Amino acid sequence: MELVRVSKYFTDCGIMSRRAADAAVADGLVTVNGNVAELGQKIDPTRDIVKYKGKVVKPSTDRGEKICIMLNKPRGYVTTMSDEKGRRTVAELCADAGVRLYPIGRLDMDSDGLLLLTNDGELANYLSHPSHRVDKVYVAVVAGNVTTAQLEGMTRPIEIDGKTTSPARIKKIGSDGQLTAIEVTIHDGRRHQVRKLCAREGLKVKSLTRTAEGSLTLGNLPLGKWRKLTAAEIKKLKG
Ligand code: URA
Repeated sequence: MELVRVSKYFTDCGIMSRRAADAAVADGLVTVNGNVAELGQKIDPTRDIVKYKGKVVKPSTDRGEKICIMLNKPRGYVTTMSDEKGRRTVAELCADAGVRLYPIGRLDMDSDGLLLLTNDGELANYLSHPSHRVDKVYVAVVAGNVTTAQLEGMTRPIEIDGKTTSPARIKKIGSDGQLTAIEVTIHDGRRHQVRKLCAREGLKVKSLTRTAEGSLTLGNLPLGKWRKLTAAEIKKLKG
């Protein structure tokens, strides 16, 4: 069998870019047959056991397992599996799942919170199809006080990329005079939709967090961490 560099093996498995894999090797997070891997090391994919953060890395086709995970995405990470500009991606955060995963929908680089990723195409299609009207709940923290008129204004549909969204459901959570927290529920999930609703009312967004999607909530999942959804959770998500 042809030997390949560890970093190429990671990209072949679809779990990380070469650059991220090299960084993982440099950080001592990768082992080959129990020994810490070295930069540029070559492996035999048919014989060697490669682990990342203690978990075996294998091509997803080897496992045939369909999984869906929930990630608590931090700000500063792009919702993509590889980024040509070299920015940090959500792929790096869930590489230890050991299989190639795709994000379901997206969260802006500056947003944080609940992001689902899966290798189950059917589930991804179901959840991203607008006709299934899966609610997504966000908490937007905006500068200053917010008037009732602004809150009402945020419920109105908005045109994004030539399409008009459904009305949003808006609830004021609280305010200390400096900042106001608003809960925004939408199911369309169009690009920058919540930020655009805020901007239309002249509100400056300080932070934006997705807290729930369908029947799932972030719960106490720490920022930057992921967990597998249970079969029961996936069944419930599909309604
Ligand atoms: N709406 C936004 O404006 N940003 C997100 O990341 C998600 C929804």
